[in-house]
Amino acid sequence: MAAQLRNQGAAVPDLVAVGHQQEDVQAWRARNGIDLASQIKLVKIAHMRYQHPDLEEIGRFLGDFGMTIVKKTDSEVWFRGYGLDQYVYHALKGPKKFLGGTFLVESYEDLERATKLPGSSDIQELVDAPGGGFLVTVHDPEGFPMNLMHGQVEREEIPAEKPKKLIYNFENEKPRVREFLRFKPGPAAVHKLGHYGLCVQNFSGELDFYLKNFNLVPTDFLYVDELDGTKKDVAIFAHIDRGDDYVDHHTFFMSTNKTSHVHHCSFEVHDYDTQMLGHQWLSEKGYEPVWGVGRHILGSQIFDYWWDTAHNMIEHYIDGDVVNRKTPIGYSPAGDESLAVWGPEVPPWFLH
Ligand SMILES: [Fe+2]
Repeated sequence: MAAQLRNQGAAVPDLVAVGHQQEDVQAWRARNGIDLASQIKLVKIAHMRYQHPDLEEIGRFLGDFGMTIVKKTDSEVWFRGYGLDQYVYHALKGPKKFLGGTFLVESYEDLERATKLPGSSDIQELVDAPGGGFLVTVHDPEGFPMNLMHGQVEREEIPAEKPKKLIYNFENEKPRVREFLRFKPGPAAVHKLGHYGLCVQNFSGELDFYLKNFNLVPTDFLYVDELDGTKKDVAIFAHIDRGDDYVDHHTFFMSTNKTSHVHHCSFEVHDYDTQMLGHQWLSEKGYEPVWGVGRHILGSQIFDYWWDTAHNMIEHYIDGDVVNRKTPIGYSPAGDESLAVWGPEVPPWFLH
């Protein structure tokens, strides 16, 4: 399979997005020579991995951000949300370093297939991690790690942890009668990891790696107009293709940059009140905000970005769009105005 993958990589042309409008996913696949049979099949994103110099400090921050410690050793901490994942954030002790997102794959064979990618690790059994399982770390052409996991036992959700759905009263429809909304200040409890994204230098090379080797499919491209009248794609929001099943608008994104670095990772919380209570909580604790609260255009999420204590960007989001195989790929012009429909002005360092 390794030889097959490598040969296919060499035989098909680079991914070139020429549409700059909406495009059917099948047509995009055919145009770019995407071979579904050779792909490593992602099921969902599960957790982020970061190396931190001070585990106590990041532990305090992530607690205030809405995560719960599942397990802790001298050199590792696993944090969970209230969803099905055993953990959504894995912090390892060491100099500040991005260790990649971790995706569940369909089968053990997918892990074996991943070990054949250039720069891949062997399959490692997760002996200490909650829920166990097996993990392979691969590296994209710019050196960013990406982890693939299989065999983790699902966590049992705790019913008491699940937030209640608010009943809203609208102008002409007021279903909440003789009931009062009361809220408790505190962290915005994290449900799950939603997405992460990278700033890359070789956009087309990176696209090739992620879209050919894995069942990641573009939801939206952003482009710039070149002086010669052509359009050049500079950013992508990609989802995991699960056929007819609906998935988040993007699980992974990349944008062109002068340097290669992780941009942010993002965690889902329950609703707007939860998010605003969480924003207030982080403010009162003295953490440094980045941008928010606002409403994105592509993906539609209400966002709230923060710096963690090691200056990694991290986001709370709610109310994102979902897509499936019938959703056409969108092409939109890049620019600050494409980022949010409302919210504070985009700080200049957000896109750096
Ligand atoms: Fe985000």
